[in-house]
Amino acid sequence: MALRTIRLQGDPVLEKHCKEVKEITPRISDLIDDMFETMYAESGVGLAAPQVGILKRIVVIDIGEGGIVLINPEILETSGEQTGYEGCLSLPGKSGVVTRPDYVKVKAFDENMEEFILEGTELMARAICHECDHLDGKMYTEMVEGDLINNEDLSSEEDA
Ligand code: NI
Repeated sequence: MALRTIRLQGDPVLEKHCKEVKEITPRISDLIDDMFETMYAESGVGLAAPQVGILKRIVVIDIGEGGIVLINPEILETSGEQTGYEGCLSLPGKSGVVTRPDYVKVKAFDENMEEFILEGTELMARAICHECDHLDGKMYTEMVEGDLINNEDLSSEEDA
């Protein structure tokens, strides 16, 4: 496993549409391992492949309940609303207020290309939406209500 370099906002790779994964190759397995290692090293709760420069539809999430891999994720259903601070490892040190669904149901494939359904509420719902947006070249900053603030002015931070 190895740490990957996190691409920062302004890097064109973060604005591109990512391609579907067709099969798990050793390179993809290594990428997934590296994404987890990189996310944990940065104390993030989520990371999408384009954030390490790879234009593939792969996301890793860990909100403190164990690591989850979402390959080719497809959001099937959302409901409710939550408004709160959100950050991103591609924009270190900043946070902004974003409104997201409070419930998300997503279909994806795991690291063995087995299809599964994941339901998430609260932070998990927010993380799924945030990371899936990365796969379509979108940063949370497009949705921020008001100004970005510096994390030292926040009591807690959760970057994805
Ligand atoms: Ni992000």
